[in-house]
Amino acid sequence: MAGKVTVVGAGFYGSTTAMRIAEYNIFDTVVLTDILEGKPEGLALDMNQSRSIEGFETKIIGATTSADGAGYEATANSDVVVITAGLPRKPGMSRMDLIVVNAGIVRGVAENIAKHSPNAVIIVVSNPLDEMTALTQIATAFPYNRVMGQAGMLDTARFTHFVAEKLNVPVASVSTLTLGSHGETMVPVPSRCTVGGVALSEKLSEAEIDELVDRTRNAGAEVVALLKTGSAYYAPSAAAARMAKAVIEDSGATMPVCAWVNGEYGISGVYLGVEAQIGREGIKKVVETKLTDSELAALKVAAEAVRAKQADVQSL
Ligand code: 2OP
Repeated sequence: MAGKVTVVGAGFYGSTTAMRIAEYNIFDTVVLTDILEGKPEGLALDMNQSRSIEGFETKIIGATTSADGAGYEATANSDVVVITAGLPRKPGMSRMDLIVVNAGIVRGVAENIAKHSPNAVIIVVSNPLDEMTALTQIATAFPYNRVMGQAGMLDTARFTHFVAEKLNVPVASVSTLTLGSHGETMVPVPSRCTVGGVALSEKLSEAEIDELVDRTRNAGAEVVALLKTGSAYYAPSAAAARMAKAVIEDSGATMPVCAWVNGEYGISGVYLGVEAQIGREGIKKVVETKLTDSELAALKVAAEAVRAKQADVQSL
C-alpha cells in the first residue's frame, strides 16, 4: 500500500468513490472533504468501521473545509485528487446549466488543492465535465497531463450495459467506446464495438445501434429523471475510482478519459474525450484509434463545441 488520495465532495458521488478506492486496499490514506461540517468526518468514521468486515487497511480521514482554504491541510501532499465538488443536475437540466455555479466552486477547490498538493494528479468529475476539467487546469496551472476528467469510462460502461442487455449476453463479452464530450456532442463509436469479438454491426441493425447510441448519450439524464433529486453515482464512482487506481499503480492502462488533445485526430488545444494511457504522471499518452469518416467528423464537431465553452470558463 502506498500513497494518498483526496476526494473533494462527500455527496453520493464523492463518498461512493472514496469507499470504492478504500476497498481496493492499495492507498495508505483516503481523505474525504466537504464544506458541510461533520459530514466527511461522520462518513469516514462509518467507512473505517467497515474495514475489518471488508478486509482493507486503507484509512479514511474526513475533513471539513471552507472556501477560504481552512481544513485543506488534511489533504496535503496527495498523490491523486478526485474533484466531485459542485451541484448535480435536477430533472430537465442539461449539464451545461450548471456551468456558472460549478465554475465558482471548482475554481476555489482547485486553487486550494494546488496549494497543498502541488504534485498531485487531478481527476475532475464535476459537471459540465469537459469545461470543469479545463478550468481546473487553468486554476491550478498544473501541466496538462496532470489534469484529466472522468466521463469516457462512464459513457462507455453505459453503452456496454445497453448492448449487453439488448443482446442478453455477459457484459464481459462486449467492448464499446465513446469519445467526444460528456454531453450533447458525445461520440459513441460503433465501429469500435464488438460482441464476443464480432462487430456490433453484425449483431444489430443500424436502427437498433442508433437507438442504443441515443440512450447512451442521454443515460445520465435518464437516471436524473428517475431519481428526481441528484444524479447517478454508482457507475460514475466506479469509473473515477478505476482511474485513481491506474494512476497510483502506474498501470499504463488505456482508458477513455477527458484529456488535453494536442494534434491527435488533427485537433489541438482542447480538453476532449479520447482514449489515453494513464499512469503516475496522469496522462502518459493520448492514443488515437481508427475512426470512420463520420465518427471523425463528429469528434471534430465535439471539439469545437467544447472549445467554445472552455473559452467561456476562463472568465468564470
Ligand atoms: C452522469 O452522466 C454524473 O455526469 C454524470 O451521470
